[in-house]
Amino acid sequence: MTLVDVRNYYREKLRDYYGQSEIDFYFKILINSFFDWDSTLIALNPKKQLTKLQAKKLIKIIKNLREFKPIQYITGESLFMGCKFKVNKNVLIPRQETEELVEWVINDNIDCKKKINAIDIGTGSGCIAVSLSLKKRNFNFTAIDNSNKSLMLAKENARLNRVKINFLKNDILKPINHETIYDIIISNPPYVPDSEMKNIEDKVLKFEPHNAIFVDKKDPFVFYKAIIDFSLSNLKKDGKIYFEINPNLYNSLLILIESYNKFNLVVKKDISNKKRMIRLNWKNEQ
Ligand SMILES: C[S@@+](CC[C@H](N)C(=O)[O-])C[C@H]1O[C@@H](n2cnc3c(N)ncnc32)[C@H](O)[C@@H]1O
Repeated sequence: MTLVDVRNYYREKLRDYYGQSEIDFYFKILINSFFDWDSTLIALNPKKQLTKLQAKKLIKIIKNLREFKPIQYITGESLFMGCKFKVNKNVLIPRQETEELVEWVINDNIDCKKKINAIDIGTGSGCIAVSLSLKKRNFNFTAIDNSNKSLMLAKENARLNRVKINFLKNDILKPINHETIYDIIISNPPYVPDSEMKNIEDKVLKFEPHNAIFVDKKDPFVFYKAIIDFSLSNLKKDGKIYFEINPNLYNSLLILIESYNKFNLVVKKDISNKKRMIRLNWKNEQ
């Protein structure tokens, strides 16, 4: 079979599932990821002969696409802040909103050259800690997660991107003892109440790890409270906390944070104009 034969086979078998441009887009991602072929190859050399193995590999994937398995889990990789990350079913696929959180930290520290001790809480694939370590060489990162499988992958991502991070298995919902007093605490914790499950896309529900996304609707801020409690003993006097948040719950989160009477809060909207992230600093450090 030639490259264009397989591409046409994709169009035929997937036309009830996706639009043609989406099918072509996935096809290009797949040939790039599997065989390292540039996406222009199909236009430049449509008659390129595939080996039996190559054609078989591509055809096998049609089943996954018909189940709406995210393309990142099919290829096993995802781009975040321009860097490649391995992903698998044990970790959340890094999101664009989280890139915006990372950009906020970078912009706040654009001229900062001194050593910064930072911690990423609920590191998952490691995307936050790894990309910030790459962009800000003066950041010294600790990254924690309570999942061994996430930590294994995050370590691999740090190795692939050649950064050194201190990974620890910690459950943030239990008291944890870190000697370090951090300049920056950053977290994209689970923040979707399980009562919102019905509004979540099927492909997220079916393929992404629920423990990374959902919280008990009776206590939707459990992670924010635990991280703030941790900051009471482990955040420097001029330190900052950066959180990704659930835009639907912003008002009640604000009330919670004001009840501590300890923090100034700045909120930032994401590209979709939703209140998606907040930054906290100690009130007496204005
Ligand atoms: C929303 S995901 C964020 C993953 C990654 N930081 C990102 O932004 O793509 C939340 C992460 O918190 C982790 N997590 C869940 N419960 C935890 C707990 N009790 N202690 C530490 N980490 C936890 C999950 O394993 C998951 O990796």
